[in-house]
Formats: sequence, C-alpha cells, structure tokens
Amino acid sequence: MKLAVPKGTKDVLSIEMEKYRQIENIFSNVCKNYGYGEITTPVFEFTELFKRGVGETTDVVSKEMYTFLDKGNRSLTLRPEGTAGVVRSYINNGMTSLVQPVKLYYMGKMYRYENVQKGRYREFTQIGLEAFGSSKASIDVEIISLVNMFFEKLGISDLQLMINSIGCKTCRLEYNKKLKNYYEEYISGLCSDCKIRYTKNPLRLLDCKVENCQKVAKNAPLFMDNLCGECLNDFSTVKQGLDNLEIDFTINKTLVRGLDYYTKTVFEFISDNVGTQGTICAGGRYDDLVELLGGKQTPGIGFAMGVERLLMELESREINMTNEVYPVLYIATLGEKAYSIASKIAYELRKQNIYVDIDVSGRGLKAQMKYANKKNVKYVVVIGENEIASNKCKIKIMETGVEKQINVDAISEIIIENKA
Ligand code: HAM
Repeated sequence: MKLAVPKGTKDVLSIEMEKYRQIENIFSNVCKNYGYGEITTPVFEFTELFKRGVGETTDVVSKEMYTFLDKGNRSLTLRPEGTAGVVRSYINNGMTSLVQPVKLYYMGKMYRYENVQKGRYREFTQIGLEAFGSSKASIDVEIISLVNMFFEKLGISDLQLMINSIGCKTCRLEYNKKLKNYYEEYISGLCSDCKIRYTKNPLRLLDCKVENCQKVAKNAPLFMDNLCGECLNDFSTVKQGLDNLEIDFTINKTLVRGLDYYTKTVFEFISDNVGTQGTICAGGRYDDLVELLGGKQTPGIGFAMGVERLLMELESREINMTNEVYPVLYIATLGEKAYSIASKIAYELRKQNIYVDIDVSGRGLKAQMKYANKKNVKYVVVIGENEIASNKCKIKIMETGVEKQINVDAISEIIIENKA
C-alpha cells in the first residue's frame, strides 16, 4: 500500500526547494545588513515553554499543539512558532550580558494542528527574527523597514501594512477592566472558550473566530483609545518613523494578534492572494516575555513570515524564484576507458565549481545525446576508443550546433576558458 504524507504536510521537491533557498538567501542578506546573526533552536521543546510563553488560552496552545510524551515521560511539543524558543535560548545562553540589542534571525519548520486550507498547513516554514534589549520605538520602525526592504528585494512593494498598539502592562490592567465591563452583558451568548477567556485573559476575547463572538467584539472598547501616555508616545514615534522612511501603513485599531506575549506595537503585512487569513508576515513587541520565561526584565520585538504564503504571493505576481542552472558540459562516453577519462575530467572541472554531467547509467550514445539535450547542456563532447587513441574529439555548442575539433587532454582548459 502506498503511504500518503500526513494531512497539512508536503514534500518539497528540488525546483520548489530552490525557491526556499533563494528566499532564505535574500532574507539572510537583508538581516545581515541590519546587524542580525542567525540562530537555530530545537524543533521540539518542553511543552511548558509554549504554555507559558505563547499563553494557555491562545488557540495555538489550547488546540493546535503537537504534544507528546517521550520515552522518559517528558511532555514535549513540536514548536508552533519560533519566538518562545529564541527567548529561551537568549536566557539560557546568557545573552543578557552581551552588548544589547541582541539581534537574531531564523528559518525553520513550525507545527500547528490547524484546519488545513489554502495558505494554512500543519507543517509550514517561517523566516523571522527577534531583537532583545531595546525599549525604544525606533527599533520597531527599523524592524518594519527590514520587512519592507525584504519584500522590495523580492519585487513586492505594495503589500498592506497594518499597525496597532495593544499597550503595556500598566494600561492593560485598566483596559482589561473596561473590556470585562463591556462583555459582562454578553457572557451568556459567548462560546465556551470565550467564557474562559473572559475570566482568564480578556484580551483574547477580541480574537475569537466564532461568528457571534466576533459580532460582540466589533463594538468592544478599543485599546488605542485607552493607551497610557508612554504607549501613545511610542506609537506616534512608530508612525513618524515609518512616515520618515516613506513606508505606507494603515492603523487597524482592532488588530490584536493571536499570541499572548505582545505588548505595545503589533503589525501585519496583508495580501489577498494567500488564503482566508491574508497575513504573510506578523509580529510585534513583547516587553514582558523574557521575564515571564525566567530571565531578567528585557524588552523584545520580532516578526515571522510564512514562507509558503510568501511563495503563493510571488506566484500570483508571476515573480519567478527559480534560478535553474544547466550543465556547462556533458561528456558522452563509449566504453569503460572513455568513462574513466571522462570521470577524471568531470572531477577536475567540478572542483573548479563547474557543473559537469556524465553518463552514470550505462546508456548508449544516442540516449546520452538525448539526455544532454533535455538537460539544456551548453557543450557536449564525445569520447570513445578513437578519440582516446588520436587525442582528438569534437566539442559541440548545443545552442548553435557548431562543432569544433579539440584535443581530449585540453577539454578541461577549454571549458574553464569558455564556461560563461
Ligand atoms: P503568527 O502570526 O502566529 O506569529 O505567524 C506568523 C506567520 O506565519 C503568519 O503570518 C503566516 O504567514 C505564517 N503561518 C502561521 N501559521 C501558519 C500555518 N498554519 N500555515 C502556513 N503559514 C502559517 C508568530 O508565529 C510569531 N512568533 C511572530 C513573532 C515573532 N512575533 C514576534 N516575533
């Protein structure tokens, strides 16, 4: 019986993989220009990390985690997102004592048990970054500008950027009270999750996907109208900073994000091309998360972008991310002696970073030529007994069909001279 891949996962085949690689390279270049170093954290972590970091009442933690007991009876979880792991690593590796801000970027697989649909998978790839140790809103602007620059490098310059502020610890206390007051009269009509959210984490009420709860949320008091002086000030610094860099944005006062750690600035880059949710990139500030996970109080901010959604966006714009490379040389061979000479030439040229292909399947000459044609090879040489004896062979320029006679022992030299 043929086995399928689990729902919400996929194989990434070589042409597609090339696109991931290109995105990773462009992202990594942009990050390096902004002073970020790369980090990789484990794909699974103790479940406790996500419960505490992302928040028990979030959909991600309460419904979507791949959690299992290992053979030592420890509860582990496949990471549903990258931030919690990077924060844990920042704390564990004593990065608090480094020069701040500490700036880290990453790319990796994430896992969420989601309802699979366009742009929403159970295994997906995120590129993202986290910056620790700066409470100034100027770093919020810098990070948004980095995302914007990355999109521009890919040839996308018109995604909609939405920003909001969801306040700090201080103004949240007051805001939560207001929110609870507002929701009091609607409690009986809320879904069972929202009834829990009402007591445990009122801000999450605004993020419920159930139709009736969404109706109630529509008229709820807005955080933006309840920010403390400091948060208001920071938000206007963000707006001014974006204006200064001529980055267009929309203020979306209902943007709250689905994870618990956010404070102050939150943002999303949205598109119509990537499925119902529309969010390609999302992030924000999390000034209390390091402390919550056992470190000393350290502000943080970051974002993550779904690479599969990004690829959908690029495809819908017909932006080609494949950079197919073709062999410079194909050496067709007849006989074992010819093969051993050809494999030596190929080895030397590959050492010089030149893409060379030879027959390793024992095909006849006709089939080898057919193969070379299919592979879009630039030059073909044929080596057989006669060519070895006379040290003369023909090199064919495939594009024009022109053939020239050259010495067998000069093949490498000629290819190195003409590889471009
Ligand atoms: P998030 O909004 O949960 O934030 O995910 C970020 C991005 O990952 C989404 O905008 C989307 O492009 C992609 N994504 C999420 N879930 C799926 C899925 N099931 N299938 C395909 N793509 C998906 C975070 O993960 C935060 N850690 C971002 C962050 C970093 N905030 C601060 N630092």
